[in-house]
Formats: sequence, C-alpha cells, structure tokens
Amino acid sequence: MHRTHTCNELRSEHIGKTITLSGWVNRRRDHGGIIFIDLRDRYGMTQIVFDPNVVKTPFSEAEGVRSEYVLKVTGEVRQRMEGQNNDKMDTGEIEVYVQEMEILNEAKTPPFEIDVEKNVNEELRLKYRYLDLRHERLKNNLMLRHKMIMEIRNYMDQQDFVDVETPILIKGTPEGSREYLVPSRLYAGKFYVLPQSPQQLKQMLMIAGFDRYYQIARCFRDEDQRGDRQPEFTQLDVEMSFVDQKDVMAINEKLLIQLTQKFAPNKKIQSEPFPVLTYKEAMDNYGSDKPDIRFEMKMVDVSEIVKDSEFGVFSSNVQSGGVVKALRVEGAAEFTRKEIDELTELAKIHGAKGLAYFVYEADGTIKSPIAKFMGDEEMSAITEKTGAKAGDIVFFGADDYVTACESLGQVRLACGDRFNLRNPDVFAYCWVIEFPMFEKDKETGAVNAMHHPFTRPLDEDHHLLETEPEKARSVAHDIVLNGTEIGGGSIRIHEHSLQQKIFDLLGISKEDAEIRFGHMLEAFSYGAPPHGGIAWGLDRLVMIFAGEPNIREVIAFPKDQKAKDLTLGAPSVMPDKDIAEANVKIIND
Ligand code: AMO
Ligand code: AMP
Repeated sequence: MHRTHTCNELRSEHIGKTITLSGWVNRRRDHGGIIFIDLRDRYGMTQIVFDPNVVKTPFSEAEGVRSEYVLKVTGEVRQRMEGQNNDKMDTGEIEVYVQEMEILNEAKTPPFEIDVEKNVNEELRLKYRYLDLRHERLKNNLMLRHKMIMEIRNYMDQQDFVDVETPILIKGTPEGSREYLVPSRLYAGKFYVLPQSPQQLKQMLMIAGFDRYYQIARCFRDEDQRGDRQPEFTQLDVEMSFVDQKDVMAINEKLLIQLTQKFAPNKKIQSEPFPVLTYKEAMDNYGSDKPDIRFEMKMVDVSEIVKDSEFGVFSSNVQSGGVVKALRVEGAAEFTRKEIDELTELAKIHGAKGLAYFVYEADGTIKSPIAKFMGDEEMSAITEKTGAKAGDIVFFGADDYVTACESLGQVRLACGDRFNLRNPDVFAYCWVIEFPMFEKDKETGAVNAMHHPFTRPLDEDHHLLETEPEKARSVAHDIVLNGTEIGGGSIRIHEHSLQQKIFDLLGISKEDAEIRFGHMLEAFSYGAPPHGGIAWGLDRLVMIFAGEPNIREVIAFPKDQKAKDLTLGAPSVMPDKDIAEANVKIIND
C-alpha cells in the first residue's frame, strides 16, 4: 500500500505517530524556509509541512512540487501550533511533518483551478472531466448518487424485487422519441436500436412470472437536449404483477420518503401522503402536468364570462372551441412595463398569441389595454371569479385548452420565482393520474399515445375508445417533485385484443403492428398477468437532491448540450473499412 491512512483520517489521537499518506497537491504555500502543502484525496485533505528546523525533510524537492502532483509522504503527525487549527478541515487539528517524500507523478498545470471552483466554461470542464471531477462539489454529487442507488437497491431487495438486466441491442420501443440505430454487420440493411427504456422487456418478465422486477437501467433517446434531458440517461425501472395503480404508487412513495429523510433531511416534505391530482386538475389549476405545488396561485377558467365579449380575441376563441384562462398574481401591480413584456415573451415562447392583463390600481380601478373592449359586467365577473384585489394583476390566455393552460402555467412559475414562492427548503411531491390516452400532434394531426401504447385505458372509459378516443383517460401515473417530472408509468394492457385495438386507434395497421410488435401481441396470448410499473428519471432525482440546476452535474461523463461526448470525442469519424463492414453508406450533403 502507498499509504497507512487517507487524507481525511488523522486526528489528535494520532499525534506522535509516523504515518504515510498519498494524494494530490491541492495547494502549496511557500513561507520562505517552510513549505505547507494541502494534500488531497477522495476522502479529504491533510496539511503536510516541510520544515528543516524541526525535522530532516526533503525541503528542496518540495520546492519543485506543483499543483496536482501526486505525492507519497511519510512523516510525523503533530499538533498544530496554538491558534493555527483549521475548523474547516476535518484534519484541522493536526499537520504532518514530512520526513520522506516520493513524487509518484508530475502534473501539467491544469486548464482550470482545482482547489477553488470558479466559473469555468463548460466545454473545458467536459473536455477535462477527470479534472472537473476532482472538484469537491462534483465528487459529492457522485457520492450522493452512489449512496442513493445503494439505498434503492436495498429497499427493492427487501421488497422482493429481482434485479434483471435487459439487453441494450434491441428492436425499437415506441416511446415517442427518435431512436439510436446500430447497423448490423452480419445482416446488411438491418439495424438494432438502443432502448428508450426496457419497457417491452420488463413486461415480458411479468409474462415470464418474475412478479416484481427492477433495474437501474440505461436508456437512450435521440432527442433535443435540455437541462433535464440527456441522450443517455438512467432510470430506476420497476414492474409489478397482480397490482393496482395504488399499489405501484404506494411502494414508490415509501421509497421516495425514505430517500428524502436520509439524503435530504433538511427538506420538508410538503404533504404526506403525496397529493394525487388528475391531469385535468393539474392543468386547470397549475397549467402543467408537472405542477409545482409549493405555491397556490391557481388559474381559473373565464371562458363562460367572456364568450360573448366584444374583445374578439376572447369571444371568437371560445366560440371556436378554445378556452380563456385567467391567472391572478397578488401584488403584481408593481410589475414594470419591462417585466410584463418579458412575461408576454415567455407566454409566446410557449405558444400563446399574447398576454392580455388587468392591472388593479390602488383605488381598485382596472387599467388594461383591453379594457376599452370589455363591459363593466364582464370585468366585475372576472374580478369576482379570480378574487383579484387592489395591487394585483390578472393575466389572460386565450387559446386551445392545452396552449392556454401551459403558457399561463409558465407565467405562473415565473411569478412564483419573482415573489420567491418556490421555497427551496420544501420538497413538494405529487402524483398526477388520469392522463389522456392520446394526444394529437399539432403539426401533423397524427394521434399518438400520450405515454406509450401499452398504457391501459381507465375501465370506465373503454367505451369512449370507439366513439370519442380523445376523451379516454389512462391508468397512468407521473410522480412530480417541485415542478419536475421525476417519474412516470402506468398499469398496462394485458389482453391481446385490447392491445390490438389501441394499435388500431394509433393508426398502426395490422401488418405494421405485426412487424413492429408481433412479439408483444404474441406474448400477450400466453397468459399475461395484470401488471403495471413505473420508471424514475434517476439523474433528475439526484439533481434535485443535490440542489443542482442540470443533470450534467450529477452524471460522471455527460454529453454536452449538442449531444457530444467532449471527454472522449464522440461521435467521431470511423475508418472506411469499419463503415463498409457495418454495411453503411455515408451520404454527404
Ligand atoms: P418515461 O418516458 O416517462 O417513461 O421516462 C421515465 C422518466 O425518465 C426520465 N427521463 C429522462 N431523464 C433524462 N433525460 C431524458 N432524455 C429523459 N427522458 C425521460 C423522466 C421520466 O419521468 N417505460 C416508461 C416507464 C413506464 O411506463 O414504466 C418510460 O420510460 O424523469
Ligand atoms: P391585440 O389586439 O393583438 O393588440 O391584443 C391586445 C392585448 O391582448 C395584448 O395585450 C395582447 O398581448 C393580448 N392578446 C392577444 N391575443 C391573445 C391571446 N390569444 N390570449 C391572451 N392575450 C392575448
């Protein structure tokens, strides 16, 4: 061994002992005649001293040592001098007087400082990720991730779940994202795809009788990157047989509470058991299917009030099947013109055509660019319905239901930020259930599954499948934490005939269904038990627990925002021979 102790182990009880440490030079301070080095390893830091007045020490060698050199030192543990204790270091009572030193390796000057974390360009951080990971914060994030996964594994094991690995080279799973393709060398023109999730395989494990499955599963989705999305990410993937939705939720809820108590003990869970909202309640009130319920600020529907309004934007929208939603923001009358313009921009980014508003002046009168189009009666009905008072603003969104709710929902979140209503000390978990089975693609008009095509419709909505499929709700459940969707799942279809019907409704022809999902339909005909499950976005959960703004901070080697691996340099050019062997032709633009 190159050491007798780690750099975070020595305390006053070790004083007088001769020990050996190995680690990196975090910082070297030359006090003329005496050199101090903070030696760092994964565990912490110890101050080592080269002082020829006290012991025979390799002083001149120490003069040549630079930041990030790797050292092995042997020396005596001593009490620090009176007044020199460092409360910020666990080893702050002692220091090691070095008698022997071996330079295990030299280091180039790092492209950014390691001992203090400054605002370093992310591209540089990702290129030199192994140096970035030396930072305390990132190291702690990965340690937290490790500990949370250990806790999850123990819990799942205690609850009789079996960890089963599923393959990475598979046939596509229809989860709505573009898939990564892997060309087959042996079968020209054929492809494997990387799994968006183990969805079909975990359902097959239920058919196989495994009853309770889990996996810390890697998933791949070739989609646009955002702060909480990576092309390659990790799920806690779960599937259970002979369960209802409530059973799936209960077992996950218990684990989330346990994790919170253990790894975020300072956060207050807003309510237990977790509130359960239907999709409609979430959208109606919060304008989001992943509501941040740390603050109220609920929206109301004023369509009925304005359906015959002279303000044509409102009335014509209602008459053509849309809605008008109103959001009262207390105290917002103080917003500047610029702030209102910014909120309007935000609403527009999320699809709104504008952001009409009423400002309630101190004397209770309403100032508004649309007041001239609105009757007194209409305005007081809106005031009453929203509960607006002097000093408030009411914002309006007139659009189709989803756009009106979601754009105003974004305005709600921004106002929540503006008034510090999104308390970082609170963990507000909630479940969202009863999602629509289908959603229409705005551009193509195609009907897609809102979750995935194996999601079960609510029993009482089965009859709607024939007549009004857009109204049919599913037995799906999302788990939301502080406005982030940290997981989602459902009870599945386990009957061959119902699954076939859903494929039909999705416009997947019998032949196509056979080609894409024949194996699933076949499997369902061999005694599939009722089953359901969920998958958590593990990176997202750890991100929130770590208090980080994006998931790259909790992933050891993440892709950048353009899906590049800057550490290794992927994607990269391949030799022509390899490309030909993979049966691929490159089409240059
Ligand atoms: P879903 O597609 O909702 O469900 O994914 C489950 C959870 O995974 C996280 N997530 C992501 N995290 C990081 N980067 C991404 N690109 C990304 N995409 C999704 C989210 C999400 O809630 N097979 C189903 C689960 C099931 O039905 O059991 C599935 O994958 O937190
Ligand atoms: P305009 O008549 O287009 O000048 O709009 C008058 C006001 O209504 C402006 O404040 C717009 O931002 C707002 N507005 C326009 N369209 C909508 C809409 N669909 N929903 C909400 N507000 C809108």
